[in-house]
Amino acid sequence: MSIGQKQSIQPLFQPFTLNQLTLANRIVMAPMTRSKSPDGIPGADVAAYYRRRAENGVGLIMTEGAIIDHPAATGDPNIPHMYGEDALNGWAHVVKEVHAAGGKIISQLWHVGITRRTRSEPNLEAASISPSGIDLMGEKAGEPMTESEIEGVIKAYADGAANAKRIGFDGIELHGGHGYLIDQFFWEKTNQRTDRYGGNLVKRTRFAVEIIEACRQAVGPDFPIILRISQWKIGSYGAKLAKSPEELAQFLAPLVEAGVDIFDCSSRHFWEPEFPGSELNLAGWTKKLTGKPAITVGSVGLESEPFDQKDEHEMIDELVERLDRKEFDLAAIGRAMLADPAWAAKIREGRDNELIPYTADRLKDLM
Ligand SMILES: Cc1cc2nc3c(=O)[nH]c(=O)nc-3n(C[C@H](O)[C@H](O)[C@H](O)COP(=O)(O)O)c2cc1C
Repeated sequence: MSIGQKQSIQPLFQPFTLNQLTLANRIVMAPMTRSKSPDGIPGADVAAYYRRRAENGVGLIMTEGAIIDHPAATGDPNIPHMYGEDALNGWAHVVKEVHAAGGKIISQLWHVGITRRTRSEPNLEAASISPSGIDLMGEKAGEPMTESEIEGVIKAYADGAANAKRIGFDGIELHGGHGYLIDQFFWEKTNQRTDRYGGNLVKRTRFAVEIIEACRQAVGPDFPIILRISQWKIGSYGAKLAKSPEELAQFLAPLVEAGVDIFDCSSRHFWEPEFPGSELNLAGWTKKLTGKPAITVGSVGLESEPFDQKDEHEMIDELVERLDRKEFDLAAIGRAMLADPAWAAKIREGRDNELIPYTADRLKDLM
């Protein structure tokens, strides 16, 4: 069965507006690390990579994680920076190319925290940082961040946001998921602080709240701030920050209050219910509980594993049905759009028989 036979794909191709940001459709390119920016500087090839997706009709591009100005923000010298003249000139060119192709582009700001191997490149002298010096496996892996370190990192996020705005990005996304630094503060396993940055789930939002407030201060009221959240963490796919809708509501409230415009709700399979008793996924619950627009993600357009009993066409029909019911507002596509830069155009034009399928063995070549 071809995509759209059962369900019109039109809801995917409705425009979306938030303040001054208008997107031509509901398709987002998910943020995906490439490690192709030597010394942190995105070059002409990076611009061409994003431009190709914009030319092919994706509504919004979310860049790969770009690190903030902190010596331990990454352990990989090829991750792009969102600071420094050369990197910012590189990004300004990326933005120009995407805009010239009629696209919109938002920069994802990233600090990996304790997932970085300590004293690794590009800054061998820098120790990795985290809320409690505990890694994602629960092992001791350093010292807890001091208050002044926390203050410095918050400022680095705000500076990154200001840089992104100045060079023409259409918004920023804070990476608050997957077990990286912000999520290390959210998660009880990695945040065992007893000061104001630790405590119950609401108190563990404090670090993110201060980052969002500082970014808001830096970019003004109308510039979109998106927060990416996830229940799962690297190496702990079953982890849950919020175990019920009530807990999720408590967790989200301070983040909304701090100034988040859109929540990017990272799940691995968009069709899986987040909590028993309702079909809503994480994006669905987040939108319902906050009234804020939400982005869903998770295996859209991928051939499903045999146990899912769904083919990729039925999955896209289900995605469109949920979008049409306004369960969420936008849908991010990751690996399928790596495999096929023309994914959005082919779906729009009903050329799904021409889609280049994603296969895991090609991942390294596609990045
Ligand atoms: C190669 C690769 C790199 C990724 N890098 C990032 C990243 O930098 N930031 C992020 O938030 N998510 C990252 N992700 C997760 C994706 O944004 C997305 O949530 C995930 O791939 C699920 O979407 P998909 O099933 O459509 O691929 C990455 C995923 C892949 C496959």
